[in-house]
Amino acid sequence: MKILGIETSCDETAISLVSGDSSSFDSGVSVENSVVLSQIQTHEKYGGVVPEVAARKHLEAIFPMLKGEVPSDGFGIDAIAVTAGPGLAPALRVGVEVAKTLAWMWHKPLVAVNHLEGHIYANWILDGENSKSKIVCPEFPALCLLVSGGHSELILMKAHGDFERIGETLDDAAGEAFDKVAKMLGLGYPGGPAISKLAENGNKEAFDFPRGLLDKPNFDFSFSGLKTSVLYTLRKLADAGKMDLSGVDAHADTNKVQADIAASFQEAVVDVLVRKTMRAAEKFKPTSIVLAGGVAANKELRERLISTAKKEFNLPVFVPQFKYSMDNAAMIAVAGFFRAQDEKNFADPLTLAVDPNLDIV
Ligand code: KG4
Ligand code: ZN
Repeated sequence: MKILGIETSCDETAISLVSGDSSSFDSGVSVENSVVLSQIQTHEKYGGVVPEVAARKHLEAIFPMLKGEVPSDGFGIDAIAVTAGPGLAPALRVGVEVAKTLAWMWHKPLVAVNHLEGHIYANWILDGENSKSKIVCPEFPALCLLVSGGHSELILMKAHGDFERIGETLDDAAGEAFDKVAKMLGLGYPGGPAISKLAENGNKEAFDFPRGLLDKPNFDFSFSGLKTSVLYTLRKLADAGKMDLSGVDAHADTNKVQADIAASFQEAVVDVLVRKTMRAAEKFKPTSIVLAGGVAANKELRERLISTAKKEFNLPVFVPQFKYSMDNAAMIAVAGFFRAQDEKNFADPLTLAVDPNLDIV
C-alpha cells in the first residue's frame, strides 16, 4: 500500500511517499521519497514562526514539490495522509486543502493524521541502514516520550492508534525551553541544535539548575522555573561583569560561560525527562520505550535514555533517525498507513477541517 503524506503544520513544507505491507502489519514502512523545505530562514528574523507568513510560504512550496515527486494523476497511490492538527491553523489549512483536493480528484481515501502521532510513528520508518538490517519495530505497550517545540508528554501506546496520556508539561514544552534559553544566550532560532552544539564545550555541572516537579509523584513536566533560573543566572553574571551578551567579543570568557550555561541547562532538561520516563516505566511496565519529536534529535537525551533504560529495566529504546526527528512528511505518511488499514478512519474529502488543538487521545 502506497501512501502520500503531506505536512504543513508549522514551518516545514513536506511531502513523502511511503509503502507498507498490509499483510504484515507490524513490520515497518519503507520511505520511497521524503522532501522537506524549511522556512527557518524566513522566520529567524522574527524570533519565531509567524502563522500567516508560514501559510504563504507553504502555498509557494507545495505545488512545485508535488509536481517534482508525485505522478500528476496519482497513479500508484492508494491513500493520502495529511496533518490535520495540532499546529498553526493557517499553515495546517494549506496542507489539508491540498490533500482534500487531490483525494477528491483522484478518488483516493483521505486520512487525517495527528502531528504528534506522526512523530511517534517516525519510529516505524524503515529507511537506509535499518531497512537492510533485521526489521524490528517497537512492541506494545510502548511508553512514548514525546518532546517537541509545542509538546512534552508521556504517552502510553497500547496498540496502533491507541494512546493514553499519562503526563504532560504544565507550562513550556521542552523544545520551547531550548528555544527561549537560546534566545537569552543570544543564539539563533531554533534553539535546540544551537544549545546542544554549544553544550559540547561546556561543563554540565557548572550550574545547578532546578529540575521541575522531579519530587512530585506524577508524570508531568515543568520547565518555566528552569528557564527563569537561567535568566536570573545570566543577570547575576552580567551584573558581576562576567558576561556580556550584547556582543560576542565583549569578554574573552563569555563563550566559556555561555557553553557552561548551555551544558548545565541541557543537563537539567535531560535529567528530568529521563528520570520521569523511568518512573513511568516502573509503574506502567512497557515492553519498549519510544522517543519522539524534534527534541529527540538531542544526542545527549538519546544516549542517556538508551543507557538508563537498559541499566534500570533492560528495556529497548527506539529513537527516530535524525532526519525523521524533526518535522517531515514520512512520519505522517507512516502514521497514515496504519490508520488507513481501517476504513472507519477515512475522512470526507469535502468536509475535513483543521483542528489547531487536535488531541492525540
Ligand atoms: O517536532 P519539531 O520539529 O516541531 C514541533 O512539532 O514543535 O520540534 C522542534 C523543536 C524546536 O523547539 C527545537 O529547538 C527542538 O525541537 N530541537 C532540539 C534539537 N533539535 C531540535 N532540541 C534540543 N536538542 C536538539 N538537538
Ligand atoms: Zn513536530
